[in-house]
Amino acid sequence: MSFKIVEQAPARLNRSELAVPGSQPQLFEKAAKSSADVIFLDLEDAVAPDDKVQARKNVIEALRDIDWGTKTMSVRINGLDTHFMYRDVVDVIEQGGERLDLIMIPKVGTPEDVYAVDMLVTQCEAAVGRKKRIGFEMIIETALGMQNVHAISAASKRNESLHFGVADYAASTKAKTTNIGGANPAYSILTDKDEKGGRDVHWGDMWHYAIARMVVAARANGLRPVDGPFGDFGDADGYKAAGGRANVLGCEGKWAIHPSQVALANEIFSPAEAEVKKAERIMEAMAQAQKEGKGAVSLDGRLIDLASIRQAEVLLAKARQISG
Ligand code: GLV
Ligand code: MG
Repeated sequence: MSFKIVEQAPARLNRSELAVPGSQPQLFEKAAKSSADVIFLDLEDAVAPDDKVQARKNVIEALRDIDWGTKTMSVRINGLDTHFMYRDVVDVIEQGGERLDLIMIPKVGTPEDVYAVDMLVTQCEAAVGRKKRIGFEMIIETALGMQNVHAISAASKRNESLHFGVADYAASTKAKTTNIGGANPAYSILTDKDEKGGRDVHWGDMWHYAIARMVVAARANGLRPVDGPFGDFGDADGYKAAGGRANVLGCEGKWAIHPSQVALANEIFSPAEAEVKKAERIMEAMAQAQKEGKGAVSLDGRLIDLASIRQAEVLLAKARQISG
């Protein structure tokens, strides 16, 4: 290992992150009763400009009055390029009480963006004598943010998670998409022709680079990488495929832009029982190997070594976190 110890963000389950527009208070109670790990009440893109002020009031009231159980609560503030953002921070912290856990910063472009919000949040917290420190979730959803993702990740002690905002990212990079977070058949490869001249088409994952880059930046700084929205909420299989890929690459969870996606995310990002059993067997086999002075052994015909222990430990820690 490196001599540098990577400090880890507070451990929170982040398998499903349910987006709830602040302008639609009729959805709040249902969201509170859902099985989402994290809820973010949105003041940004799901709220029309004319509704921003009322949405802020709704969110403040909801943080104070609704029983959100043990969920992690977040508010997505408006972008730093708008005149709504400072009052989002000031009013939500000054009037929203202690229930808020996180602030989600959209369209982060530079580490200075994070620094600026940190300064404002720090002043507001001090002014109201807040006991619980607010953490930051940052959406990486512009070319600038993706370019600076490593510096952004390290920009504040409040940082907890990075989120891939695929919709804005596509707009910013001018990527050609079909639906939010979905695949595009034009991003495909053709196999060589077989004897009969036939060939197959394999669709590629056009989001691979972005998600993989975000995962590295997040993990190198002890943050949770989280995959963003999947727009076609009638397509559970499409959601599972997108979430499954993000899970394989190391993400902790995925957004739900519709309540029906919460259960899907919880399932995708919870280790399956067979995986937990396998991890336990790896731990047992390696404990035995170490007793015998060996660094590597074979299990079910495959090599396992000290790195296998670390992988198994990660998986078992996640299973323990889920079972509480
Ligand atoms: C989320 O904010 C996105 O743009 O995908
Ligand atoms: Mg966005």
